[in-house]
Amino acid sequence: MSVHKNIKRVTTNVLQEMKNSGEKISMLTGYDFSMARIIDDAGIDVILVGDSASNVMAGHETTLPITLDQMIYHASSVVRAVERALVVVDMPFGSYQGNSKEALSNAIKIMKESGGHAVKLEGGQEILESIQRILTAGIPVMGHLGLTPQSIYKFGTYVVRAKEEDEANQLISDAIALEAAGCFAIVLEKIPANLAEKVAKTVSIPIIGIGAGNGVDGQVLVVHDMLGINNEFNPRFLRKYNNLYEQMKKSIQDYSNDVKSGDFPNEKEQY
Ligand code: KIV
Repeated sequence: MSVHKNIKRVTTNVLQEMKNSGEKISMLTGYDFSMARIIDDAGIDVILVGDSASNVMAGHETTLPITLDQMIYHASSVVRAVERALVVVDMPFGSYQGNSKEALSNAIKIMKESGGHAVKLEGGQEILESIQRILTAGIPVMGHLGLTPQSIYKFGTYVVRAKEEDEANQLISDAIALEAAGCFAIVLEKIPANLAEKVAKTVSIPIIGIGAGNGVDGQVLVVHDMLGINNEFNPRFLRKYNNLYEQMKKSIQDYSNDVKSGDFPNEKEQY
């Protein structure tokens, strides 16, 4: 069911309407102009300029090294390509955990310099003051709970979170706190499907899952993972819609062979 397919601009209100009417929300990451054009043209509702750019675009092992200016560079490239989707920009590690004043000025910098439509922050009650302060400036905030990759050195591993009752209860109370603070949506990453469904039923704002089952209001994947551009990441939750790594490699090999054999360019391909 896609009643909002013809909408000109996806806003946070449109996402809320989607949840209210039972229409699932589609979200993918995007980091550059060319890919964002394709994603937007395909009708994806939300493009997340994720700090996963640190892994996918820059080859770092974690999301921690990416800087505020690098996030703004990626986000502004995406914004220039997009006509319909809501563009959400991750606040990078270290840009909001220090204090709420710093968080607000960094969120304002992202909005001013990238033209993005909202920011996403990882964490629950421990970052509530920062979230509240950002919201006072009229900047929409998306929350992110469960596996929060910026805290990888605290967790120690990327395994499923909140399997135990204590952590599950904490996650539910964090989701309630984020909704009460005024977040417009929450990403839940890598948690049991029944817990994610419970959260989606408990709060009234949209819940977007990644590795969180089908009982939530929408799904997000890293675009390079679902297109099979990255062939080294194969978690259970990932559905691959293509194997672009092999297809792109084959095209590049064909080109190289044509250059070396003298077949390219031919007469029609020159002036
Ligand atoms: O940075 C990112 O790509 C994310 C998604 C995995 C939700 O935060």
